[in-house]
Amino acid sequence: MKRVIFCVVSVVVYALGLTSGVYASDKQMETLKQLYKRPLYIPFPKSAPYSPQLATLGKKLFFDPRLSGAKNMNCASCHNPSFGFETPVALAVGAANAKLGRHAPTTLNMAWVKPFFWDGRAKTLEDQAEGPLTAEVEMNGKFSEIVPELKEIAEYQKWFDHLFPGKGITRETILTAIATYERTIVSNWSPFDRWVEGNETAISESAKKGFVLFNGKANCVACHTGWNFTDNKFHDIGADTEDIGRAKFEPNNPKAMHAFKTPGLRNLTQRAPFTHNGSLSNLEAIVLHYETGGINRPSRSVDMIPFTLSDTEREDLINFLISLTADKSEVAMPVLPN
Ligand code: HEC
Ligand code: HEC
Repeated sequence: MKRVIFCVVSVVVYALGLTSGVYASDKQMETLKQLYKRPLYIPFPKSAPYSPQLATLGKKLFFDPRLSGAKNMNCASCHNPSFGFETPVALAVGAANAKLGRHAPTTLNMAWVKPFFWDGRAKTLEDQAEGPLTAEVEMNGKFSEIVPELKEIAEYQKWFDHLFPGKGITRETILTAIATYERTIVSNWSPFDRWVEGNETAISESAKKGFVLFNGKANCVACHTGWNFTDNKFHDIGADTEDIGRAKFEPNNPKAMHAFKTPGLRNLTQRAPFTHNGSLSNLEAIVLHYETGGINRPSRSVDMIPFTLSDTEREDLINFLISLTADKSEVAMPVLPN
């Protein structure tokens, strides 16, 4: 299905002849917009169907430092809602104030993402959540301690017994609850979405031109596809890095060297600095990087073709990216049981 969508995008871009100019007719614009329409439903897996109670429990756990070894860190320490579910530092900082090797990616729109981590090493959100919980340099928690600790908290015990009859609090049920909450973290409606749905004045004329550049001359659409703006694949964008990325898991694929998973582009204005090592500090740096095409090496994606934008065009493209930030993104903190 994804492949079909991807082909449709390339065909549309090609057929519309957008690769050279910044102009698209009304009809072309309508066709393009349809590729970015927000979905109406969150896809939950059969193994963990949605219930409001389960998502609420998962939210408490996401924000509960009692899951960490020193009881001083929760998932939101690095995936902070105020910063688009990231942290505004290049490299994430773990439990003992240690710098991690990579920038914390956003946890927005994870229900539409797969696989997980910059290098895709986790297949499911449940598997992913175990990583930071137990990694010594991150939360440094141990399930052999977390499970008895949560069982001491009467309210948690009740919630788990009710939601997982016969299982109660286990490693698996803790991870299921957290993953279910994560699937409900969806970026809210942005000016761009209102424009796609027909409100012509929701975004500026400049942002509209930027949208055409995104789909044409700047070729961002080669990798940033669909409403969440990612193909969920791995590419080397020529970033300055020692990190081998996806190559750790695909040693025989020359294109996997320095390749990282395409991040979604929602709520970018809250999420700087950017990329797996936080080396691009703002949206202008991002666009300039793509204009130069980054470091030319054998692993670099064939879609990294250098191009030149005028100052006005660069501004248009950035204004389009800004229009993807939701009008509202406040998150209510959960009340933790004691
Ligand atoms: C110390 C900071 C830190 C903490 C605490 C932390 N994370 Fe992360 N998270 C990261 C970093 C860094 C990465 C990227 C690591 C990589 O790709 O190698 C990441 C990746 C992720 C991803 C993958 C996103 C994607 O696009 O693939 C998800 C989901 C996630 N974390 C959820 C969680 C959850 C749930 C918790 C709590 C159980 C948590 N994180 C705690 C720093 C943290
Ligand atoms: C060849 C595929 C490809 C193309 C073309 C591409 N991107 Fe990316 N983009 C990626 C990948 C992969 C990353 C992550 C790279 C890394 O971490 O080293 C990324 C990262 C980003 C980020 C940082 C997001 C974050 O969460 O850190 C932004 C913003 C971005 N791209 C915007 C654009 C724009 C704008 C264009 C067009 C000018 C574009 N991209 C073209 C694949 C691509």
